[in-house]
Amino acid sequence: MTCENARIQTPDDLLMDQLCQNLAEQGWGVLCDFFSPLLIKDLRNEVINHAGSTGLTQAGVGRGLDYMVDPSIRSDQTRWLSAETAAQSLYLEQMEHLRLGINRRLFLGLTYFESHFALYEPGTFYAKHKDSFRGAANRVLSTVSYLNPDWKDEDGGQLILFDPESGAETTRIKPEAGTLAVFLSEEIEHEVLMSHVQRFSIAGWFRVDHQLCG
Ligand code: OGA
Ligand code: MN
Repeated sequence: MTCENARIQTPDDLLMDQLCQNLAEQGWGVLCDFFSPLLIKDLRNEVINHAGSTGLTQAGVGRGLDYMVDPSIRSDQTRWLSAETAAQSLYLEQMEHLRLGINRRLFLGLTYFESHFALYEPGTFYAKHKDSFRGAANRVLSTVSYLNPDWKDEDGGQLILFDPESGAETTRIKPEAGTLAVFLSEEIEHEVLMSHVQRFSIAGWFRVDHQLCG
């Protein structure tokens, strides 16, 4: 007998299963080669073009009245994604697929995804921080998609995740093109080591509220 609702497990389902199991058990997960090299190349070229035409803004820290630019804490430059190009649309579609897959497996009720390109020029970094604070209840899952091919250890720029209980380093993620890192925004402290080459990425957040405007 076959069930009406039987579904074939695709490689995509299995990847999503693995990611969600890791998120549930340890609060973070990493998928290599999650995005196609072609999409990554288009997205990388967009950041490169914006960098050459002041399309990026110096990133700040804090929220509302506490917001300020402080290069001793973070020194990347950013630009919000908005489906203004085919590559951004495709990226956002894939993240929407991920949102639905995560909700189906972990019942997180994620409602909305926001993301920005980030450029770390040589010599820049992002000191240890969390992306969301308990009580703010908006950013639930942080994502980082990397856009540099052939990253070398000596290029620096690794993402370090820390254990919420012991504070010890749990893992060091190489910012290699196609890799997607996902972690709990309220739980996981993390740090971007100084990069020695131009480092391109897209940082994003799945939220449980809605886009305010725009
Ligand atoms: C961030 C962040 C990590 C990375 O933008 O908040 O922590 O690896 N980024 O770029
Ligand atoms: Mn962060």
